[in-house]
Amino acid sequence: MWKNIEAAPADAILGLTEAFQAESRPGKVNLGVGVYKDETGITPIPGCVKAAELILLETEKTKSYLPIPGEPVYGVEVQKLIFGESSEVISGRRAVTAHAPGGTGALRVGADLLKKFNKDAKLWLSDPSWTNHRSVFSAAGYAVEEYPYYDADAKGVDFVAMKECLARVPSGDVVLLHACCHNPTGFDLSAEQWKELVEVAKKAGWIPFLDFAYQGLGEGLEQDRVGVVAFAESGLDMVVSSSFSKNFGLYRERVGACTVVTPSEAEAVVAMSHLKTVVRVLYSNPPAHGGLVVKTVLTSKALRSQWVEELDGMCRRIKEMRAQLVQGLEKRGVERDFSYILRQRGMFSFSGLSKEMVEWLRAEKAIYMVGSGRINLAGLTTSNIDYVCDAIAEGLKQEK
Ligand code: LMR
Repeated sequence: MWKNIEAAPADAILGLTEAFQAESRPGKVNLGVGVYKDETGITPIPGCVKAAELILLETEKTKSYLPIPGEPVYGVEVQKLIFGESSEVISGRRAVTAHAPGGTGALRVGADLLKKFNKDAKLWLSDPSWTNHRSVFSAAGYAVEEYPYYDADAKGVDFVAMKECLARVPSGDVVLLHACCHNPTGFDLSAEQWKELVEVAKKAGWIPFLDFAYQGLGEGLEQDRVGVVAFAESGLDMVVSSSFSKNFGLYRERVGACTVVTPSEAEAVVAMSHLKTVVRVLYSNPPAHGGLVVKTVLTSKALRSQWVEELDGMCRRIKEMRAQLVQGLEKRGVERDFSYILRQRGMFSFSGLSKEMVEWLRAEKAIYMVGSGRINLAGLTTSNIDYVCDAIAEGLKQEK
């Protein structure tokens, strides 16, 4: 059956990892996929995760199925993390959570859930957005539209254009917002802008779907949730997809969550019943291990504070590499002003390097980054930063 079928193109991000692994040049640098690496270039397992795994090894008594939405305490802990412990959303029991396989799984669960009740709903994405957003929502049957987000000249968010466009989005459509650490640009909304956006959503009647894949990697666990909290407090219907790939280093364990917020407890009960039907069809019930690790860490005072410290460490290292990249380019006399990179947040920098430059860096210097010019700052270390800055400086000189 495959003889007459054309091969699919490689994935824009994970395909890059495959190409990098096949790369034989010794000095190669991977600034592609959004995976944290430490100073030695390794993606470490946080100490709190190892400790939790040891506890699980000792205490886990069965491998029988979990409930369809996953371990209940996991859901409770996810909500505390994304809304804050004292949130009225929690005390008012207005939210329900299902453990989904990673942030991507959570997106698909939320997409299918909303589609079930509005067949004509379109999905609105920021321009640009994570490449897989479009694919996940298209696969769930959505027509995908874009709203303005990145202002390439001003290097920041074009909030006026964004608001203007979102004010005209039809009621019932779904608007995907990056809760923090916008992927790929690194430019986030301010607390004030989030509040304004809530008012836009209220008036227009679209459903906010917040992708919260990087909590704690921007400005901290609490500061990073301002957008989620603003929408949650508004009493609007909303969906939050979260992920523990990055902030817990649990990438391959596929740990995420789909949380549905409703205006009332009674509606939340109905939402959960449908959330369960969606999960049952997609993967029946979630894989247990990663969720149990997260639950074990978050419910232990000692492990939780160890986690917060380890997460802060990741965040600090990323910020340090961000600063070193800007300084390194400046030191090499690069004319272009790259200081806007310092205003970006999270794991990524939308470097502003052209597609041609990205290709040149890969071909000539074995430096891999996403075609849009997105750099994973965690791929930089004190051992490769000079090499990368030299290469970019050389490339820019030739480009002139
Ligand atoms: C990324 O954007 O690089 C990460 O979210 C990994 C992925 O799945 O694409």
